Amino acid sequence: MRAVFITGGTTGIGMELAKLYLSRGWRVGVCGRSRQKFDDNFTTHLDHLTFYGLDVSNRKDLKAAIADFSKSSGLDLLIANAGIGYIHKTKVPDFEYSYKMVEINLFGVMYSFEAALEIMIPSGKGQLVAMSSIAGYNGLPGVSAYSATKAAVQKYTESLHLDLKQFNIAVTTICPGFVETPLTATNRHSMPFLVKAPKAAVLIARAIEKKKMIYAFPFIFASIVRFISILPRTWYRFIITKKAFNYSKE
Ligand SMILES: NC(=O)c1ccc[n+]([C@@H]2O[C@H](COP(=O)([O-])OP(=O)(O)OC[C@H]3O[C@@H](n4cnc5c(N)ncnc54)[C@H](OP(=O)(O)O)[C@@H]3O)[C@@H](O)[C@H]2O)c1
Repeated sequence: MRAVFITGGTTGIGMELAKLYLSRGWRVGVCGRSRQKFDDNFTTHLDHLTFYGLDVSNRKDLKAAIADFSKSSGLDLLIANAGIGYIHKTKVPDFEYSYKMVEINLFGVMYSFEAALEIMIPSGKGQLVAMSSIAGYNGLPGVSAYSATKAAVQKYTESLHLDLKQFNIAVTTICPGFVETPLTATNRHSMPFLVKAPKAAVLIARAIEKKKMIYAFPFIFASIVRFISILPRTWYRFIITKKAFNYSKE
């Protein structure tokens, strides 16, 4: 039986991925800070599912959980999905919250990969996946630390994709556009090309299966964002400061 560990698997994209892999007969480990969310959202396949209550910014706890989960049947796939977004978008950054975001969105990915590699390198196989965002392609107004952490994740995984090939370990970066989850539920701006979470999970799992280096979706929105990212920055500033695009109003 193949085994996947998903960080931030109690709600949203991580939860949908966990349910998808369970339905495909995988052993699944999920972590999150809230046992309650886990209990509320998972009622079936419980014999193949293990929950670890922890904060991904705690390196020691995460390492212990991934090692414990992998004891019985190894680890084929690690999805570093846990992340937080901004509840309020502001022009003056909330620095305390931004530091927390770096710990969760960036260090959380690094800690997950570190723990998974301790199992995957000796076993000579595996796949690491990190959840970036299309918000990582450009420095978006009002969400500076979010854009920064997601850009950092993209570059971190791009390097590892090259480095870990020799160990037979694939690395995949996922860059979703807007997905309907608790994270986006508080957004007050428009969310073009919004994707339902179960559909996002299917698309992500397909990209993982194909061992893509980077997968951004939905296609049209991701293509627009990627095109904007290669424009001269003066052009980017011109576009993003237009009223329709600039949702940093506070
Ligand atoms: N939704 C989107 O439009 C979108 C777009 C691009 C990228 N993403 C990325 O996709 C990932 C999942 O987002 P989502 O939309 O599914 O959000 P979500 O529904 O809020 O889910 C986030 C998950 O991460 C967990 N989590 C948050 N902080 C944690 C921490 N410190 N330690 C352990 N677990 C933690 C949450 O569980 P607990 O609350 O139980 O801790 C939850 O299971 C994030 O990395 C996000 O940045 C989302």
